[in-house]
Amino acid sequence: MRRLTIISVVGARPQFIKAAPVCRALRAAHDEVLVHSGQHYDYEMSDVFFDQLGIPKPDYNLAVGSGSHARQTGEMMPMLEALFEEKRPDAVLVYGDTNTTLAGGLAAAKIGVPVAHVEAGLRSFNRTMPEEINRIVVDHVSDVLLCPTRASVANLRAEGITNGVHLVGDVMLDTARFFAEHVDASETLDAFGVVEGEFFFATVHRAGNADSESRLKAIIEAFSRLELPVLWAVHPRTHANLERFGLLERVEAQSNIKAVPPVSYIETVSLLRSAAGLLTDSGGMQKEAYFFGIPCVTLREETEWVETVELGWNRLAGADTARIVEAASAMSVPAQHPDVYGDGRAAEAIVSALETHLGGNR
Ligand code: UD1
Repeated sequence: MRRLTIISVVGARPQFIKAAPVCRALRAAHDEVLVHSGQHYDYEMSDVFFDQLGIPKPDYNLAVGSGSHARQTGEMMPMLEALFEEKRPDAVLVYGDTNTTLAGGLAAAKIGVPVAHVEAGLRSFNRTMPEEINRIVVDHVSDVLLCPTRASVANLRAEGITNGVHLVGDVMLDTARFFAEHVDASETLDAFGVVEGEFFFATVHRAGNADSESRLKAIIEAFSRLELPVLWAVHPRTHANLERFGLLERVEAQSNIKAVPPVSYIETVSLLRSAAGLLTDSGGMQKEAYFFGIPCVTLREETEWVETVELGWNRLAGADTARIVEAASAMSVPAQHPDVYGDGRAAEAIVSALETHLGGNR
C-alpha cells in the first residue's frame, strides 16, 4: 500500500477532540503533518486538549489568534497555501465548520490539492450562522466527504454532491468511548461542588447567543428559575460579553448558577456523564450528551444533529426563558438509544475512505 501524506488542519477546541482518534489511526499507516491555525490559543481552549487527548504536538502553529471572520480566515490562507505548495500532500484534511476549516479547504482546493472534510453534510439551514457558510463552502470544494450520519449524506445529495461521499460515523464517539472507560468522574464532581444526577451542565458560546444582550439575559433568567443548580462553563467570548453587558455580577449573585472557566475534555466527560441534563448551544455537546445518555435542551432554534431531537433526547428551546424552563423541567430519559452515530470506529473508517479515494491501496 502506498503511504499517503496528509496535512491535517485544526485550530478550534472541537477540532482537537475530532482529530485525536484520526491522528492515531492515520499515523499507524501513513504520514501526517499537523497544522494548528492558532484560532484558539488559551491553555484551557487548546493545550489542555492536546495534553489530555494525546494529540501529537503540531508541526506548525500559524498563531493567527482572534479577529473578524475575514481577518482570521484571510490571515490563515496564504500561510496554509505556502505549506500546501511546499509539501504537495495527497490531501488536506479539515474538520467541522470553523474559520480554520474554511481557510484550509479553500487554500487547498484553489491550488488543486484534494480536500477531505470530516463532518461533511451537516446543515442547520440557518445562514445567519457563520458555521453554516463555512460548511457549505467547504463541502462544495471537497473531494472526500466524510459524513457522520445518514441525514448528512442526504443533505449532500440534495445539493447534488454524491461523488466521494462516505458514511463513516461520528468521530467524536471514538473519543467519547475511549474516555468513558478511563475517566473517574468523582474528582471533577468534588472539585466543582456538584452531586451526581443533581445538577445541570451548561455552555453558551454561539455568536447568535453570546453576542446578544437580550438573548443572554433570557438564558440567565431561565437558568435562575431552574430547580437544580446550573454549572456553567463560560467560553471566553461569552465571558467578555457578560462583562460588556454588565451581566457578570447578575450571574455571580445568582445562588443556583455556578459560572466556571472553560473545562477540559476529561472534566467535560465527567460532568456530562453525571449531570441531570445539558443546556447548550454547542453542536458537539448535543451529541456528547446523547453518547453519555443524558437529555439535552438546545439553546437554539435548529440543530444539525436532528437525530437527537427525533429520538426524544434533545429539545430545541431557543433563547426563550419560558421554553428553556419548561424543557429543562420536563427532561426525561427516552427508552430508545440506537447507534445513529456509528460504532465508535469512525477514525478507522476515515482512514480507509482516504485510502480508497486517494489510491493508497493500489
Ligand atoms: C469557534 C467556531 C465555532 C466553534 C467554536 C468552539 C468559527 C466561526 N466559530 O467559535 O464554530 O463551535 O469555535 O469553541 O470559527 N477567545 C479567547 N481565547 C481563545 C479563543 C477565543 O479569549 O483561546 C475569545 C476571543 O475573544 C475571540 C472569541 O473568543 O474573539 C471568539 O473566538 P473565535 O475563535 O472567533 O470563535 P468561537 O466563538 O470560539
